Amino acid sequence: MQVAIGQPGFAMEQGIKVHYTISRSEIGRAAIRALMAAGLAVQPEENVSELTVEQVEHENKEWYSIQVTPQCITLKVAAPQALHLAAQTLAQSVGADSDGKSALPSMVVTDAPLLPYRGLMLDPCRHPQTVEETKKMLRIMARYKLNHLHWHLADDQGWRIEIKKYPRLTEVGSHRAETPTLANHEVGDGTPTQPFYFTQDEVRDVVSYAHSLGITVIPEIEVPGHSSAAIAAYPELGNHDVPGYAPQVATTWGVLPYTYAPKEVTMRFLNDVFAEVCALFPRAKFVHIGGDEAPRDQWQKSPFVRSFMQENGMRHAGQVQHWFTHRMAELLAGHGRRIVGWDEIIDDGAVPGDAVVMYWRSWVRPSSLLRALRSGHDVIQSPDSHFYFNFSQGKLPADPAYRPHGSLTAEQDWRHVYSYNPVPAGLTPEQKKHLIGLQANCWSESIADGRKLEYQTVPRICALAEVAWRPAELRRADEFLQRIRAQYPWFEQQKINYRREDGTPALP
Ligand code: ACM
Repeated sequence: MQVAIGQPGFAMEQGIKVHYTISRSEIGRAAIRALMAAGLAVQPEENVSELTVEQVEHENKEWYSIQVTPQCITLKVAAPQALHLAAQTLAQSVGADSDGKSALPSMVVTDAPLLPYRGLMLDPCRHPQTVEETKKMLRIMARYKLNHLHWHLADDQGWRIEIKKYPRLTEVGSHRAETPTLANHEVGDGTPTQPFYFTQDEVRDVVSYAHSLGITVIPEIEVPGHSSAAIAAYPELGNHDVPGYAPQVATTWGVLPYTYAPKEVTMRFLNDVFAEVCALFPRAKFVHIGGDEAPRDQWQKSPFVRSFMQENGMRHAGQVQHWFTHRMAELLAGHGRRIVGWDEIIDDGAVPGDAVVMYWRSWVRPSSLLRALRSGHDVIQSPDSHFYFNFSQGKLPADPAYRPHGSLTAEQDWRHVYSYNPVPAGLTPEQKKHLIGLQANCWSESIADGRKLEYQTVPRICALAEVAWRPAELRRADEFLQRIRAQYPWFEQQKINYRREDGTPALP
């Protein structure tokens, strides 16, 4: 970025005047939509052309360049998705001219991200986020050029997406008898929750809003574990021949014993559920199947599963999960999608080569990141050592609502996030190509509302965005702090409850 400091800029008082010829081309229309989604005013006008847009060849589909002079803004992009990135750069560059009026500086920018997948995961299962809270997070993500929302829609503690063919998923699975208190996760609050789920209309609304901001939404339905809510709704899907079988929507956090049984009725169910899910997420090339923390106890105890294993020549119950992963990959390939799974999916044997591994278990040795790369899988990194935004950032307000959970290995403030190097030393060029993304996860056991979500996420999200964007050797934390500080007026204007430098929340 080269900025002509002290030179006149491009006046923004009346927005960007766009000649109607621009709106005749597809790329021109897409540019106008992206500028408006980024909050910039665009005025159609007969005799002025202040915007030109051109698509050029570049191997990085998110490459873009911007030239601003007092007369004109020139955008060049490798593909339409880069228009959103250019538009956000313009929106962030609006300042004041020497006369104090709103203006863009005269400048030249060429830019492209390090990693193509830059994501955030929201978990409406433990504590829900409303449609409006979800959209506010999407606006924050777009500002920092994150391009994927991973939406964790089904877990033990709640099923959060309407599925027309299986109404009990939401009738039974979308509420629970009580919730662990924030102050002490061992104690329940004794209060039944209201049913909460996204209707299919609401899902379409969120997906299309995200799309207008250049963000793709990746749905996640957990298979084969973290499935208590679905099994409570349809007990025949679980291992009902084990002693003491009594599935319910979970009222505690952690890893629960309920898993799907490897039966045809389960496969019919998953087939139907993912058919509706794929229709609701038409642009998601990836669909997340979960795959983490699936206990084997019920499979080991179930006479049905034991004979299933014998018939299929399986020697240990981990192979049942492996069977599920293959069936899900096959099923989703039928919809033209690739599966994404938490890194446990590679623990029990080879899985289809196009499966994307989401690396989260930073503590497992040998490293599942390296194992995934050596097996030729694309990897999205979200190690809990750096990118679990539910974890503490250090100094906290006294309010129990702000207390973190889990045993923390570090104070994961933005500096800690910023210290991550997403390209480990010693990889071959081929392995490096498989490092496709970086993501932070906002698990919501301790995040009961939108305010806390913002406190946990902002400004760490800025550090996430830059780690995914800029090669590690070009990053300097102290210089970055200056740029975080430049965001405070936007946080204030957007009424974001960001974490201040002294650890206090910005909103009372
Ligand atoms: C996870 O944190 N269980 C993916």
